Amino acid sequence: MTMPQLPMVQPMPGLPERVTIYEVGPRDGLQNEKSVVPVEVKAEFVRRLLAAGLQTVELTSFVPQKWVPQLGDAEELLDLLGGDGTGQHRPVLVPNERGLDRALEKGVTSIAIFGSATETFAQKNLNRSVEESVNMFSPVVKRALDGGAWIRAYVSMCFGDPWEGPVPVQKVVDVCSRLMDLGCDQLSIGDTIGVATPGHVVRLLDALEDAGIGPDQVAVHFHDTYGQALANTMAALGRGVSVVDASAGGLGGCPYAKSATGNLATEDLVWTLQGLGIEHGTDLDALVETSTWMSQQLGRPSASRVVRALAGA
Ligand code: HMG
Ligand code: MG
Repeated sequence: MTMPQLPMVQPMPGLPERVTIYEVGPRDGLQNEKSVVPVEVKAEFVRRLLAAGLQTVELTSFVPQKWVPQLGDAEELLDLLGGDGTGQHRPVLVPNERGLDRALEKGVTSIAIFGSATETFAQKNLNRSVEESVNMFSPVVKRALDGGAWIRAYVSMCFGDPWEGPVPVQKVVDVCSRLMDLGCDQLSIGDTIGVATPGHVVRLLDALEDAGIGPDQVAVHFHDTYGQALANTMAALGRGVSVVDASAGGLGGCPYAKSATGNLATEDLVWTLQGLGIEHGTDLDALVETSTWMSQQLGRPSASRVVRALAGA
């Protein structure tokens, strides 16, 4: 028996017509690699992702090299990418004003700040309390807005935290509201360690909507530690969310939360969207080829089930 190359298209009611895939492979994916991927390989990875039709690709982080050595080549990467690395759909992570200065110097026009719903992760990831991190982000967002930049606010540990356990929904909503009140364009709710389940996702989205942050402003960022990322994504689509974070080949994790494994694989997401007849604008074969190439560079098979099924990678 041969493997079907594409799923049969069968739409389902109540889902968006189009989904924007926010590709985080070059940033979330590569920040967690044991060794530093050569910058030329990173640039080639980004170019291949763009050629596969992905329109939003998060490129890197402007954080101190000693905090994330894997992304210490942010300037060099943007130099190598040239025009492919600029524009509203090429966000980079920026934690503070020093990071913003570095990003602006390279012509970046789209940034992401990244907060935490819990105190423990705020300390581990940002070396400050939740309150102090909001104060760190505030001038970044103000200056970026004044300069006309597009701004995403990530909030990590929205469902569970490896040190604090389950995270109360209201606590998450409070941090999300504080960051969105700064003037950010989009909120990405992070399940950093992959412990969310669909009912929990719906409950948080409803609570955010009650607080004035509707699904049109929200993106979902699911890590797939427990195999729930796609089920959680379906729950979010059913609540009107239409921006989904994913990582080619299922790369990803967070160096400051060891229990974080890879993100939802872009190819697995595309397979589902394709089957549902939801527009996504990408070429699945080209994505599979890209992740197969990347897994050769990294020396291990892709975590994506779709990549493995289609390419035997
Ligand atoms: P700190 O050490 O408290 O910073 O780090 P500081 O302000 O005290 O500065 C210390 C030194 O670093 C100074 O240099 C600064 O100039 C320099 P010195 O005077 O000692 O020579 N410095 C910088 N250099 C370059 N670029 C900068 C910068 N800032 C300061 N931007 C800081 C505080 C926030 C910077 C640090 O904690 C940090 O970078 N944390 C980020 C860690 C990280 O990147 N984690 C992974 C991304 S988050 C994630 O993956 C989750 C997500 O995917 C969603 C999810 O899954 O939940 C987004
Ligand atoms: Mg992440």
